[in-house]
Amino acid sequence: MSSILITGASGQLGREFQALETAFPGLQFTFADRTALDVTDEPAVFNYFLHHSFDYCINCAAYTAVDKAESEPGAARRGNVDAPRWLAEGCARQNIPFIHYSTDYVYHNAENTPLLEGSPTTPRCVYAATKLEGEQAARASNPLTMIIRTSWVYSSFGHNFVKTMLRLGRERASLGVVYDQVGAPTYAHGLARATLDILSKVEKGEAPRELLSGIYNYSDEGACSWYDLALAIFEMANIPCQVLPIETRDYPLPALRPPYSLLNKAKIKDVWGVKLKHWRENLRACLETLGEL
Ligand SMILES: NC(=O)c1ccc[n+]([C@@H]2O[C@H](COP(=O)([O-])OP(=O)(O)OC[C@H]3O[C@@H](n4cnc5c(N)ncnc54)[C@H](OP(=O)(O)O)[C@@H]3O)[C@@H](O)[C@H]2O)c1
Repeated sequence: MSSILITGASGQLGREFQALETAFPGLQFTFADRTALDVTDEPAVFNYFLHHSFDYCINCAAYTAVDKAESEPGAARRGNVDAPRWLAEGCARQNIPFIHYSTDYVYHNAENTPLLEGSPTTPRCVYAATKLEGEQAARASNPLTMIIRTSWVYSSFGHNFVKTMLRLGRERASLGVVYDQVGAPTYAHGLARATLDILSKVEKGEAPRELLSGIYNYSDEGACSWYDLALAIFEMANIPCQVLPIETRDYPLPALRPPYSLLNKAKIKDVWGVKLKHWRENLRACLETLGEL
């Protein structure tokens, strides 16, 4: 049976992998949270790979505090550049693939048609810059590195926009939400499943292991603004909070976000046969899991 190491196992995505463990009985999982493996501790990372062996490593650990990163660039760099470099190097020493996640925020440019993996990368905040550098560091350390760039991740686990809206929507009569940032949300459950489906294809011999390299975009289908997403959450969960469309400049935050970051997912669909659901269908599924429907 093939074995998979999941690092950062207590985050949104990590916990979705944990929830899927029984759905993939042909794979043996090791879930490592920060206490089991601090990915920013270089000796600990190499020691871990010296004493455990795996067939794949999926890294769900990251420094994800987008705004805090502006005042903590060193910590962001350790989590988003050094950690993936060392993990990818640890995987390279075992000659195993390294699967790593990055962000739509690396594409912060003037394009306003769905962004391709080859679109210019011009990060404009510390978080995005460190995520891009981390992609490059990991790929330089291990040619068997697959980067999945994803956007607006939410889950029934952890902290995210959907859960924040559910809370604020019940506390307030109205809420201003930005309408001038367009993209697509990603239900972490679907992303975890798609990642395991990809590995299962390799396991079954339907795709060569060497295909686990390069960059792929992934998000739910469709497009929306944060305003549209908030409206849909309140509609589905039957919360009578009025959503007011506001502009990004009316809600200033330390980190700059791209106004348009809708991902073109043709590559992951064509190469790996990944089937994507519309963001509304996934939102409904998440709200159902949360007991909101
Ligand atoms: N969330 C989004 O909107 C979004 C959007 C685009 C891309 N992504 C990317 O998607 C991936 C998964 O994100 P997510 O939403 O699941 O993030 P998350 O919920 O914030 O989880 C990140 C996890 O990383 C862990 N971690 C941080 N530093 C660590 C360290 N030094 N050692 C071990 N674990 C550490 C955290 O542990 P603690 O709980 O102990 O802090 C947390 O469990 C990340 O690569 C992220 O950059 C996320």
